[in-house]
Amino acid sequence: MKTLTTNSIKSLLLLSAISISNIACADGEEITDPITHGEKTHNNHCYKCHTDDVYKRDNRFVKSIDALSQQVVRCKDGNNVPWFDEDTDAVVQFLNKKYYRF
Ligand code: HEC
Repeated sequence: MKTLTTNSIKSLLLLSAISISNIACADGEEITDPITHGEKTHNNHCYKCHTDDVYKRDNRFVKSIDALSQQVVRCKDGNNVPWFDEDTDAVVQFLNKKYYRF
């Protein structure tokens, strides 16, 4: 009886964890891999004004993960990019993994 209860609690926890991770994003797909999602999302919306060179240049001004996050939001908002917070987070993770490595 005790095991049964523990198991039901476990499956409940598992279920809620699954529904939390199934957050919708701008293109209506589930985000299972933030880095891949971030890359795709970035490539769709972020090449209008600059290329990846801004992330690689010697004098790049983003110096921390917070600054990166703020800059992505600034670039996104300035260009009416229709992202949810989950999309923005995924792009920050992608840029950090590929270029900044904070
Ligand atoms: C409307 C034009 C525009 C668009 C579209 C744009 N950016 Fe930018 N972005 C800029 C400008 C201008 C800078 C500053 C470049 C400079 O100072 O030389 C910049 C700089 C950046 C930097 C900082 C680079 C550094 O020096 O470390 C990041 C990160 C960045 N953009 C991310 C993005 C992302 C992510 C997107 C997609 C949402 C995006 N940008 C789309 C104009 C844009």
